[in-house]
Amino acid sequence: MKIITFANHKGGVGKTTTVANIGYALAHHYKKKVLMIDMDPQTNLTAHFGIYERPERTMYEVLKGSATITETILRLSSNLYLAPSSLDVTNSDAELQSVTGREFLLSEALDKVYGYDVILIDTPPSLGVLTVNAFTASTDICIVVQTEFFALQGLAKLYEIIGIVQKRTNPKLVISGVIATMFDKRKGMHCEALQALETQFPKELFATHITEAIALVEAASAGKSIFEYKPSSKVAEQYDEIAKAMVNRVLA
Ligand SMILES: Nc1ncnc2c1ncn2[C@@H]1O[C@H](COP(=O)(O)OP(=O)(O)O)[C@@H](O)[C@H]1O
Ligand SMILES: [Mg+2]
Repeated sequence: MKIITFANHKGGVGKTTTVANIGYALAHHYKKKVLMIDMDPQTNLTAHFGIYERPERTMYEVLKGSATITETILRLSSNLYLAPSSLDVTNSDAELQSVTGREFLLSEALDKVYGYDVILIDTPPSLGVLTVNAFTASTDICIVVQTEFFALQGLAKLYEIIGIVQKRTNPKLVISGVIATMFDKRKGMHCEALQALETQFPKELFATHITEAIALVEAASAGKSIFEYKPSSKVAEQYDEIAKAMVNRVLA
């Protein structure tokens, strides 16, 4: 069972949007049984699927040890499941500071989860204990990068943390994909950023890029995936192509 964390400690780069839409495509276009885990206290992924009220059990209870992941799971549609987050996960960082082995809480909780083809983890915009838990529990990392001027600079810190996790808590972790988002080919800066990504990640960068598209924002506020909201859009096609490439590259 592959466990893929979508990462970038910069916020607003498209992580949550990517998890939601790739999750949907893998479940409904590629017949995979998908569990998405929302590890972000901002609960954007949970909200993306129209869940605005705090569920009784969330990843907060899982990290505190008072619920299992299975007890939190909501079935969104056939093949697509979500372990929701809640705002109290914010407290986890502080609350977990004194817990021995705190980096392994998610990994241990996932030991008891069976029957999915793939698990996708959405992470908060930080490299704190929640993100380190996600990295420690994962088989793969997929970096989500916005094609803007400073995109690559910010990745140095992410690399450093991935390196530490590989050394100390999860030696098998691999970076298996890089997804470029919010690309606008009319902007010179975006093209330069894309070239830099191609040079730095010749194998990892997915050939398809996600363009800037307001439909993604609208879909999220409607509590839907882009495939339900605007199936004929270019960006729906792009997310489908990346999901397909992911099936061949990571899930094969
Ligand atoms: N390709 C895109 N084009 C335009 N807006 C986007 C795109 N991808 C995401 N967005 C919007 O940008 C904002 C940040 O995206 P989000 O996925 O929440 O980023 P992150 O999870 O990295 O913080 C959201 O309002 C989202 O709807
Ligand atoms: Mg997010």
